[in-house]
Amino acid sequence: MNVTVFGTGYVGLVTGACLADVGHNVMCIDIDEAKIEGLKQGRIPIYEPGLEPMVLRNHEEGRLHFTTDAAEGVKFGALQFIAVGTPPDEDGSADLQYVLAVARTIGEHMDDYKVIIDKSTVPVGTADKVRTVVAGVLAERGTDLPFDVCSNPEFLKEGAAIEDFTKSARIVVGTDSERVRELMRECYAPYSRNHDKLMFMDVRAAELTKYAANAMLATKISFMNEIANLAERLGADVEQVRLGIGSDPRIGYHFIYPGCGYGGSCFPKDVQALARTAVQVGYEPELLNAVEAVNNRQKQVLFDKLSQAFDGDLTGRTIAVWGLSFKPNTDDMRAAPSRVLMESLWDAGARVRAFDPEAMHETIRIYGERDGLTLVEHPNEAVEGADALVVCTEWKQFRTVDFTWLKSKLKHPVLVDGRNMYDPRQVKAAGLMYYAIGRAD
Ligand code: UGA
Repeated sequence: MNVTVFGTGYVGLVTGACLADVGHNVMCIDIDEAKIEGLKQGRIPIYEPGLEPMVLRNHEEGRLHFTTDAAEGVKFGALQFIAVGTPPDEDGSADLQYVLAVARTIGEHMDDYKVIIDKSTVPVGTADKVRTVVAGVLAERGTDLPFDVCSNPEFLKEGAAIEDFTKSARIVVGTDSERVRELMRECYAPYSRNHDKLMFMDVRAAELTKYAANAMLATKISFMNEIANLAERLGADVEQVRLGIGSDPRIGYHFIYPGCGYGGSCFPKDVQALARTAVQVGYEPELLNAVEAVNNRQKQVLFDKLSQAFDGDLTGRTIAVWGLSFKPNTDDMRAAPSRVLMESLWDAGARVRAFDPEAMHETIRIYGERDGLTLVEHPNEAVEGADALVVCTEWKQFRTVDFTWLKSKLKHPVLVDGRNMYDPRQVKAAGLMYYAIGRAD
Protein backbone atom coordinates (compact mmCIF):
# COMPACT_ATOMS: atom_id res chain seq x y z
CA MET A 1 0.00 0.00 0.00
CA ASN A 2 1.04 3.60 -0.45
CA VAL A 3 1.05 5.39 2.87
CA THR A 4 1.77 9.01 3.74
CA VAL A 5 2.86 10.06 7.22
CA PHE A 6 2.81 13.72 8.29
CA GLY A 7 5.36 14.49 11.00
CA THR A 8 8.73 12.84 11.58
CA GLY A 9 8.81 12.92 15.40
CA TYR A 10 8.74 9.79 17.54
CA VAL A 11 5.31 8.63 16.45
CA GLY A 12 5.59 9.59 12.77
CA LEU A 13 9.04 8.24 12.12
CA VAL A 14 8.43 4.98 13.98
CA THR A 15 5.09 4.50 12.19
CA GLY A 16 6.66 5.25 8.81
CA ALA A 17 9.68 3.00 9.35
CA CYS A 18 7.64 0.09 10.76
CA LEU A 19 5.09 0.22 7.95
CA ALA A 20 7.85 0.38 5.31
CA ASP A 21 9.59 -2.53 7.02
CA VAL A 22 6.68 -4.85 6.21
CA GLY A 23 6.61 -3.81 2.56
CA HIS A 24 4.40 -0.74 2.35
CA ASN A 25 5.62 2.28 0.38
CA VAL A 26 5.83 5.14 2.81
CA MET A 27 6.30 8.86 2.26
CA CYS A 28 7.19 10.85 5.38
CA ILE A 29 6.54 14.58 5.25
CA ASP A 30 7.77 17.30 7.54
CA ILE A 31 7.90 21.06 7.21
CA ASP A 32 11.36 21.07 8.82
CA GLU A 33 13.69 21.07 5.83
CA ALA A 34 16.85 20.41 7.81
CA LYS A 35 15.26 17.37 9.41
CA ILE A 36 14.10 15.95 6.08
CA GLU A 37 17.48 16.64 4.45
CA GLY A 38 19.16 14.89 7.40
CA LEU A 39 16.84 11.89 7.12
CA LYS A 40 17.56 11.60 3.40
CA GLN A 41 21.24 11.40 4.33
CA GLY A 42 20.59 8.85 7.06
CA ARG A 43 20.65 11.18 10.07
CA ILE A 44 17.98 10.18 12.59
CA PRO A 45 16.81 13.17 14.66
CA ILE A 46 15.96 11.16 17.79
CA TYR A 47 17.66 8.45 19.81
CA GLU A 48 15.51 5.35 19.67
CA PRO A 49 16.99 1.85 19.83
CA GLY A 50 16.58 -0.01 16.53
CA LEU A 51 15.13 2.93 14.63
CA GLU A 52 18.25 4.01 12.78
CA PRO A 53 19.00 0.70 11.02
CA MET A 54 15.32 0.30 10.17
CA VAL A 55 15.09 3.77 8.62
CA LEU A 56 18.37 3.35 6.72
CA ARG A 57 17.47 -0.09 5.38
CA ASN A 58 14.02 0.88 4.17
CA HIS A 59 15.25 4.15 2.71
CA GLU A 60 18.03 2.37 0.81
CA GLU A 61 15.65 -0.29 -0.42
CA GLY A 62 13.33 2.40 -1.76
CA ARG A 63 10.28 1.88 0.46
CA LEU A 64 10.73 4.86 2.75
CA HIS A 65 10.83 8.34 1.26
CA PHE A 66 11.19 11.79 2.79
CA THR A 67 9.89 15.08 1.49
CA THR A 68 8.85 18.57 2.47
CA ASP A 69 6.60 18.78 -0.57
CA ALA A 70 3.04 18.57 0.77
CA ALA A 71 1.42 18.18 -2.67
CA GLU A 72 3.66 15.22 -3.46
CA GLY A 73 2.95 13.69 -0.06
CA VAL A 74 -0.82 14.03 -0.26
CA LYS A 75 -0.95 12.53 -3.74
CA PHE A 76 1.23 9.60 -2.65
CA GLY A 77 -0.83 7.69 -0.09
CA ALA A 78 -4.36 6.32 0.05
CA LEU A 79 -3.78 6.41 3.79
CA GLN A 80 -2.74 9.75 5.28
CA PHE A 81 -1.46 9.46 8.83
CA ILE A 82 -1.35 12.66 10.86
CA ALA A 83 1.45 12.29 13.42
CA VAL A 84 2.38 15.90 14.11
CA GLY A 85 2.81 17.43 17.56
CA THR A 86 -0.03 18.46 19.86
CA PRO A 87 1.81 20.60 22.41
CA PRO A 88 -0.09 21.84 25.45
CA ASP A 89 -1.71 25.27 25.28
CA GLU A 90 -1.22 27.67 28.16
CA ASP A 91 -4.23 26.14 29.90
CA GLY A 92 -3.09 22.53 29.36
CA SER A 93 -5.43 21.75 26.44
CA ALA A 94 -3.86 20.07 23.42
CA ASP A 95 -3.02 22.64 20.76
CA LEU A 96 -4.50 21.34 17.51
CA GLN A 97 -3.09 23.94 15.15
CA TYR A 98 -0.56 21.55 13.55
CA VAL A 99 -3.09 18.75 13.16
CA LEU A 100 -5.64 21.06 11.58
CA ALA A 101 -2.98 22.62 9.32
CA VAL A 102 -2.24 19.13 7.96
CA ALA A 103 -5.98 18.58 7.48
CA ARG A 104 -6.07 21.77 5.37
CA THR A 105 -3.07 20.64 3.36
CA ILE A 106 -4.69 17.28 2.64
CA GLY A 107 -7.90 19.04 1.56
CA GLU A 108 -5.95 21.36 -0.73
CA HIS A 109 -3.98 18.68 -2.56
CA MET A 110 -6.07 15.50 -2.57
CA ASP A 111 -7.46 14.36 -5.89
CA ASP A 112 -8.93 10.98 -5.01
CA TYR A 113 -10.36 9.11 -2.00
CA LYS A 114 -8.27 9.39 1.16
CA VAL A 115 -8.42 7.88 4.61
CA ILE A 116 -7.17 10.54 7.01
CA ILE A 117 -5.89 8.94 10.18
CA ASP A 118 -5.39 10.78 13.46
CA LYS A 119 -2.31 9.08 14.93
CA SER A 120 -1.25 11.92 17.24
CA THR A 121 -2.82 12.00 20.68
CA VAL A 122 -5.76 14.31 20.14
CA PRO A 123 -8.75 15.25 22.29
CA VAL A 124 -12.10 13.60 21.84
CA GLY A 125 -13.87 15.35 18.98
CA THR A 126 -10.74 16.05 16.93
CA ALA A 127 -11.71 13.67 14.12
CA ASP A 128 -14.88 15.73 13.68
CA LYS A 129 -12.81 18.92 13.50
CA VAL A 130 -10.46 17.39 10.94
CA ARG A 131 -13.47 16.28 8.89
CA THR A 132 -14.94 19.79 9.01
CA VAL A 133 -11.66 21.39 7.92
CA VAL A 134 -11.14 19.00 5.00
CA ALA A 135 -14.77 19.31 3.87
CA GLY A 136 -14.47 23.10 4.09
CA VAL A 137 -11.35 23.19 1.90
CA LEU A 138 -12.90 20.81 -0.63
CA ALA A 139 -15.99 23.05 -0.76
CA GLU A 140 -13.72 26.07 -1.41
CA ARG A 141 -12.18 24.09 -4.25
CA GLY A 142 -15.69 23.37 -5.54
CA THR A 143 -15.35 19.59 -5.27
CA ASP A 144 -16.81 16.89 -3.06
CA LEU A 145 -14.11 14.24 -3.31
CA PRO A 146 -14.79 11.37 -0.92
CA PHE A 147 -12.72 10.91 2.26
CA ASP A 148 -12.96 9.40 5.71
CA VAL A 149 -11.39 10.40 8.99
CA CYS A 150 -10.51 7.78 11.57
CA SER A 151 -8.72 7.63 14.88
CA ASN A 152 -5.78 5.24 15.32
CA PRO A 153 -3.98 6.22 18.51
CA GLU A 154 -0.42 5.10 19.13
CA PHE A 155 0.61 3.39 22.37
CA LEU A 156 4.37 3.24 21.91
CA LYS A 157 6.84 3.99 24.68
CA GLU A 158 10.00 5.91 24.02
CA GLY A 159 13.00 3.60 24.23
CA ALA A 160 10.87 0.61 23.22
CA ALA A 161 9.03 2.21 20.33
CA ILE A 162 9.86 -0.33 17.62
CA GLU A 163 9.00 -3.24 19.85
CA ASP A 164 5.76 -1.57 20.97
CA PHE A 165 4.73 -0.88 17.38
CA THR A 166 5.63 -4.27 15.96
CA LYS A 167 4.40 -6.31 18.93
CA SER A 168 1.62 -4.09 20.18
CA ALA A 169 -1.05 -5.52 22.46
CA ARG A 170 -3.79 -3.95 20.36
CA ILE A 171 -4.33 -1.73 17.36
CA VAL A 172 -7.23 0.60 18.07
CA VAL A 173 -9.14 2.03 15.13
CA GLY A 174 -12.10 4.35 15.62
CA THR A 175 -14.32 4.50 12.57
CA ASP A 176 -17.88 3.96 11.38
CA SER A 177 -16.89 3.12 7.81
CA GLU A 178 -16.53 -0.38 6.38
CA ARG A 179 -14.20 0.92 3.69
CA VAL A 180 -11.85 2.29 6.37
CA ARG A 181 -12.01 -0.98 8.29
CA GLU A 182 -10.89 -2.86 5.19
CA LEU A 183 -8.03 -0.50 4.37
CA MET A 184 -6.78 -0.39 7.96
CA ARG A 185 -6.95 -4.18 8.14
CA GLU A 186 -4.79 -4.37 5.01
CA CYS A 187 -2.34 -1.78 6.35
CA TYR A 188 -1.83 -3.55 9.68
CA ALA A 189 -2.20 -7.16 8.48
CA PRO A 190 1.58 -7.85 8.74
CA TYR A 191 1.48 -6.81 12.41
CA SER A 192 -1.75 -8.60 13.21
CA ARG A 193 -0.96 -12.10 11.98
CA ASN A 194 -0.84 -14.43 14.94
CA HIS A 195 -3.95 -13.11 16.57
CA ASP A 196 -6.23 -10.32 15.41
CA LYS A 197 -5.03 -7.23 17.23
CA LEU A 198 -7.31 -4.82 15.46
CA MET A 199 -10.00 -3.38 17.68
CA PHE A 200 -12.58 -1.39 15.80
CA MET A 201 -14.69 1.01 17.80
CA ASP A 202 -16.44 4.37 17.57
CA VAL A 203 -14.24 7.34 16.74
CA ARG A 204 -14.80 9.06 20.08
CA ALA A 205 -14.20 5.87 22.04
CA ALA A 206 -10.86 5.43 20.25
CA GLU A 207 -9.87 9.01 21.00
CA LEU A 208 -10.75 8.62 24.67
CA THR A 209 -9.05 5.21 24.90
CA LYS A 210 -5.69 6.85 24.30
CA TYR A 211 -6.12 9.40 27.10
CA ALA A 212 -7.69 6.87 29.45
CA ALA A 213 -4.74 4.48 28.99
CA ASN A 214 -2.13 7.14 29.77
CA ALA A 215 -4.14 8.62 32.62
CA MET A 216 -4.60 5.16 34.16
CA LEU A 217 -0.86 4.47 34.01
CA ALA A 218 -0.06 7.90 35.44
CA THR A 219 -2.59 7.25 38.20
CA LYS A 220 -0.88 3.98 39.11
CA ILE A 221 2.45 5.79 39.41
CA SER A 222 1.11 8.67 41.49
CA PHE A 223 -0.77 6.23 43.69
CA MET A 224 2.41 4.28 44.29
CA ASN A 225 4.39 7.44 44.99
CA GLU A 226 1.80 8.42 47.56
CA ILE A 227 2.06 5.00 49.20
CA ALA A 228 5.88 5.38 49.13
CA ASN A 229 5.70 8.71 50.91
CA LEU A 230 3.44 7.15 53.49
CA ALA A 231 5.64 4.06 53.82
CA GLU A 232 8.71 6.05 54.71
CA ARG A 233 6.82 7.92 57.38
CA LEU A 234 5.38 4.69 58.76
CA GLY A 235 8.67 2.79 58.83
CA ALA A 236 7.71 0.39 56.04
CA ASP A 237 9.67 -0.51 52.90
CA VAL A 238 7.58 0.33 49.83
CA GLU A 239 9.52 -2.17 47.70
CA GLN A 240 8.13 -4.98 49.83
CA VAL A 241 4.68 -3.43 49.59
CA ARG A 242 5.07 -3.19 45.79
CA LEU A 243 5.72 -6.91 45.53
CA GLY A 244 2.94 -7.62 47.98
CA ILE A 245 0.30 -5.81 45.96
CA GLY A 246 1.70 -6.55 42.49
CA SER A 247 1.26 -10.27 43.07
CA ASP A 248 -2.49 -9.73 42.97
CA PRO A 249 -3.31 -10.17 39.26
CA ARG A 250 -6.03 -7.56 39.60
CA ILE A 251 -3.29 -5.04 40.40
CA GLY A 252 -0.28 -6.45 38.53
CA TYR A 253 3.39 -5.56 38.70
CA HIS A 254 3.47 -3.02 35.87
CA PHE A 255 3.72 0.70 36.47
CA ILE A 256 3.77 0.52 40.23
CA TYR A 257 7.43 1.45 40.61
CA PRO A 258 7.72 4.38 42.96
CA GLY A 259 10.23 7.02 41.91
CA CYS A 260 10.90 10.70 41.55
CA GLY A 261 7.79 11.36 39.46
CA TYR A 262 6.73 10.59 35.91
CA GLY A 263 8.02 12.76 33.10
CA GLY A 264 8.22 12.62 29.33
CA SER A 265 6.19 14.12 26.58
CA CYS A 266 3.03 12.11 27.23
CA PHE A 267 1.85 11.51 30.79
CA PRO A 268 2.14 15.09 32.10
CA LYS A 269 0.61 16.53 28.93
CA ASP A 270 -2.13 13.95 28.53
CA VAL A 271 -3.28 13.99 32.17
CA GLN A 272 -3.53 17.78 31.96
CA ALA A 273 -5.30 17.72 28.61
CA LEU A 274 -7.86 15.17 29.79
CA ALA A 275 -8.50 17.22 32.92
CA ARG A 276 -8.95 20.26 30.70
CA THR A 277 -11.39 18.39 28.47
CA ALA A 278 -13.34 17.31 31.55
CA VAL A 279 -13.70 20.91 32.72
CA GLN A 280 -14.82 21.94 29.24
CA VAL A 281 -17.72 19.50 29.44
CA GLY A 282 -18.63 20.62 32.94
CA TYR A 283 -17.05 17.81 34.93
CA GLU A 284 -14.60 18.42 37.77
CA PRO A 285 -11.80 15.81 37.32
CA GLU A 286 -10.78 15.41 40.95
CA LEU A 287 -8.75 12.25 40.51
CA LEU A 288 -6.86 13.54 37.46
CA ASN A 289 -6.03 16.77 39.27
CA ALA A 290 -4.73 14.80 42.23
CA VAL A 291 -2.62 12.56 39.98
CA GLU A 292 -0.94 15.66 38.59
CA ALA A 293 -0.53 17.36 41.96
CA VAL A 294 1.03 14.26 43.54
CA ASN A 295 3.43 14.02 40.59
CA ASN A 296 4.48 17.65 40.81
CA ARG A 297 5.18 17.21 44.49
CA GLN A 298 7.09 13.99 43.85
CA LYS A 299 9.52 15.74 41.53
CA GLN A 300 10.64 17.82 44.54
CA VAL A 301 11.38 14.78 46.68
CA LEU A 302 15.02 14.36 45.60
CA PHE A 303 15.83 17.94 46.47
CA ASP A 304 14.01 17.65 49.78
CA LYS A 305 16.01 14.56 50.71
CA LEU A 306 19.30 16.25 49.83
CA SER A 307 18.26 19.28 51.76
CA GLN A 308 17.49 17.08 54.75
CA ALA A 309 20.91 15.39 54.44
CA PHE A 310 22.65 18.79 54.50
CA ASP A 311 20.54 20.37 57.24
CA GLY A 312 18.68 22.62 54.86
CA ASP A 313 21.76 24.37 53.45
CA LEU A 314 23.09 23.34 50.06
CA THR A 315 24.97 26.56 49.35
CA GLY A 316 28.32 25.83 47.73
CA ARG A 317 27.72 22.07 47.62
CA THR A 318 28.51 20.05 44.51
CA ILE A 319 25.97 17.36 43.77
CA ALA A 320 26.72 14.50 41.37
CA VAL A 321 23.71 13.51 39.27
CA TRP A 322 23.48 10.19 37.40
CA GLY A 323 20.81 10.16 34.71
CA LEU A 324 19.13 13.19 33.18
CA SER A 325 16.64 11.79 30.67
CA PHE A 326 13.10 11.25 31.97
CA LYS A 327 13.67 7.50 31.78
CA PRO A 328 16.36 5.15 30.44
CA ASN A 329 17.00 4.46 26.73
CA THR A 330 16.01 7.87 25.52
CA ASP A 331 17.66 11.27 25.24
CA ASP A 332 14.33 12.96 25.99
CA MET A 333 14.46 15.52 28.80
CA ARG A 334 10.88 16.72 28.53
CA ALA A 335 9.36 17.09 32.01
CA ALA A 336 12.28 15.07 33.41
CA PRO A 337 12.53 14.97 37.22
CA SER A 338 16.27 15.75 36.83
CA ARG A 339 15.34 19.22 35.62
CA VAL A 340 13.31 20.03 38.71
CA LEU A 341 16.19 18.74 40.85
CA MET A 342 18.91 20.70 39.03
CA GLU A 343 16.90 23.90 38.95
CA SER A 344 16.15 23.63 42.68
CA LEU A 345 19.84 22.97 43.37
CA TRP A 346 20.89 26.04 41.40
CA ASP A 347 18.30 28.14 43.24
CA ALA A 348 19.77 26.87 46.51
CA GLY A 349 23.29 27.88 45.46
CA ALA A 350 24.58 24.37 44.74
CA ARG A 351 26.50 23.08 41.70
CA VAL A 352 25.72 20.01 39.59
CA ARG A 353 28.19 17.49 38.08
CA ALA A 354 26.09 15.31 35.83
CA PHE A 355 26.39 12.31 33.57
CA ASP A 356 23.83 10.74 31.24
CA PRO A 357 24.55 8.11 28.58
CA GLU A 358 22.42 9.84 25.91
CA ALA A 359 20.91 13.11 27.09
CA MET A 360 23.97 15.35 27.49
CA HIS A 361 23.53 17.17 24.20
CA GLU A 362 19.87 17.71 25.07
CA THR A 363 20.89 19.11 28.46
CA ILE A 364 23.23 21.57 26.75
CA ARG A 365 20.50 22.51 24.30
CA ILE A 366 18.16 23.32 27.20
CA TYR A 367 20.53 24.95 29.69
CA GLY A 368 23.49 26.04 27.54
CA GLU A 369 26.93 26.45 29.08
CA ARG A 370 25.55 27.62 32.37
CA ASP A 371 27.26 28.35 35.63
CA GLY A 372 26.73 25.59 38.16
CA LEU A 373 26.45 22.81 35.56
CA THR A 374 29.35 20.54 34.63
CA LEU A 375 28.69 17.62 32.31
CA VAL A 376 31.20 14.80 32.46
CA GLU A 377 31.95 11.85 30.20
CA HIS A 378 31.80 9.05 32.76
CA PRO A 379 29.64 8.38 35.83
CA ASN A 380 32.77 7.99 38.00
CA GLU A 381 33.93 11.43 36.96
CA ALA A 382 30.66 12.97 38.18
CA VAL A 383 31.34 11.67 41.65
CA GLU A 384 34.92 13.03 41.87
CA GLY A 385 34.93 15.79 44.45
CA ALA A 386 31.14 15.84 44.81
CA ASP A 387 29.43 16.19 48.17
CA ALA A 388 26.67 13.69 47.39
CA LEU A 389 25.30 11.51 44.59
CA VAL A 390 21.73 11.49 43.32
CA VAL A 391 20.46 8.87 40.86
CA CYS A 392 17.62 10.31 38.80
CA THR A 393 17.28 7.79 35.97
CA GLU A 394 17.65 4.01 36.21
CA TRP A 395 20.02 3.45 33.28
CA LYS A 396 21.41 -0.10 33.29
CA GLN A 397 25.00 1.04 33.76
CA PHE A 398 24.12 2.51 37.17
CA ARG A 399 22.90 -0.80 38.53
CA THR A 400 26.22 -2.07 39.79
CA VAL A 401 28.09 0.26 42.10
CA ASP A 402 31.10 -0.35 44.32
CA PHE A 403 29.71 1.43 47.36
CA THR A 404 33.02 1.36 49.22
CA TRP A 405 34.64 3.14 46.28
CA LEU A 406 31.71 5.58 46.17
CA LYS A 407 32.07 6.36 49.87
CA SER A 408 35.79 7.05 49.36
CA LYS A 409 35.03 9.54 46.56
CA LEU A 410 32.18 11.54 48.05
CA LYS A 411 32.97 14.36 50.46
CA HIS A 412 29.86 13.40 52.40
CA PRO A 413 28.54 9.85 52.51
CA VAL A 414 25.15 10.71 50.96
CA LEU A 415 23.46 8.65 48.23
CA VAL A 416 19.98 9.69 47.12
CA ASP A 417 18.38 7.00 44.98
CA GLY A 418 15.38 8.32 43.07
CA ARG A 419 14.62 4.90 41.55
CA ASN A 420 15.19 2.43 44.41
CA MET A 421 17.95 0.72 42.47
CA TYR A 422 20.08 -0.49 45.33
CA ASP A 423 19.94 -2.84 48.27
CA PRO A 424 19.78 -0.61 51.35
CA ARG A 425 21.80 -3.10 53.39
CA GLN A 426 24.71 -3.05 50.93
CA VAL A 427 24.71 0.73 50.69
CA LYS A 428 24.61 1.16 54.42
CA ALA A 429 27.25 -1.55 55.00
CA ALA A 430 29.67 0.64 53.02
CA GLY A 431 29.04 3.48 55.44
CA LEU A 432 26.85 5.56 53.14
CA MET A 433 23.66 7.27 54.19
CA TYR A 434 20.95 6.00 51.85
CA TYR A 435 17.94 8.09 50.95
CA ALA A 436 15.58 6.20 48.65
CA ILE A 437 11.88 6.51 47.80
CA GLY A 438 9.53 5.06 50.36
CA ARG A 439 12.17 3.15 52.26
CA ALA A 440 12.51 3.97 55.92
CA ASP A 441 16.08 4.52 57.20
C1 UGA B 1 3.90 6.50 27.70
C2 UGA B 1 3.06 5.21 27.70
O1 UGA B 1 3.69 4.20 28.50
C3 UGA B 1 2.86 4.69 26.29
O2 UGA B 1 2.01 3.56 26.30
C4 UGA B 1 2.22 5.82 25.46
O3 UGA B 1 2.04 5.40 24.11
C5 UGA B 1 3.13 7.03 25.48
O4 UGA B 1 3.28 7.47 26.84
C6 UGA B 1 2.51 8.10 24.63
O5 UGA B 1 1.40 8.54 24.93
O6 UGA B 1 3.07 8.42 23.58
P1 UGA B 1 6.51 7.06 27.62
O7 UGA B 1 6.12 8.44 28.01
O8 UGA B 1 7.45 6.89 26.49
O9 UGA B 1 5.21 6.19 27.24
O10 UGA B 1 7.21 6.41 28.86
P2 UGA B 1 6.85 5.37 30.03
O11 UGA B 1 7.76 4.22 29.92
O12 UGA B 1 5.43 5.09 30.12
O13 UGA B 1 7.31 6.22 31.31
C7 UGA B 1 6.68 7.44 31.65
C8 UGA B 1 7.20 7.95 32.98
O14 UGA B 1 6.68 7.17 34.04
C9 UGA B 1 8.72 7.91 33.13
O15 UGA B 1 9.15 9.10 33.72
C10 UGA B 1 8.95 6.74 34.06
O16 UGA B 1 10.12 6.87 34.83
C11 UGA B 1 7.71 6.81 34.94
N1 UGA B 1 7.36 5.53 35.58
C12 UGA B 1 6.94 4.48 34.82
C13 UGA B 1 7.41 5.42 36.96
O17 UGA B 1 7.78 6.37 37.68
N2 UGA B 1 7.02 4.24 37.54
C14 UGA B 1 6.61 3.16 36.82
O18 UGA B 1 6.26 2.13 37.43
C15 UGA B 1 6.57 3.30 35.43
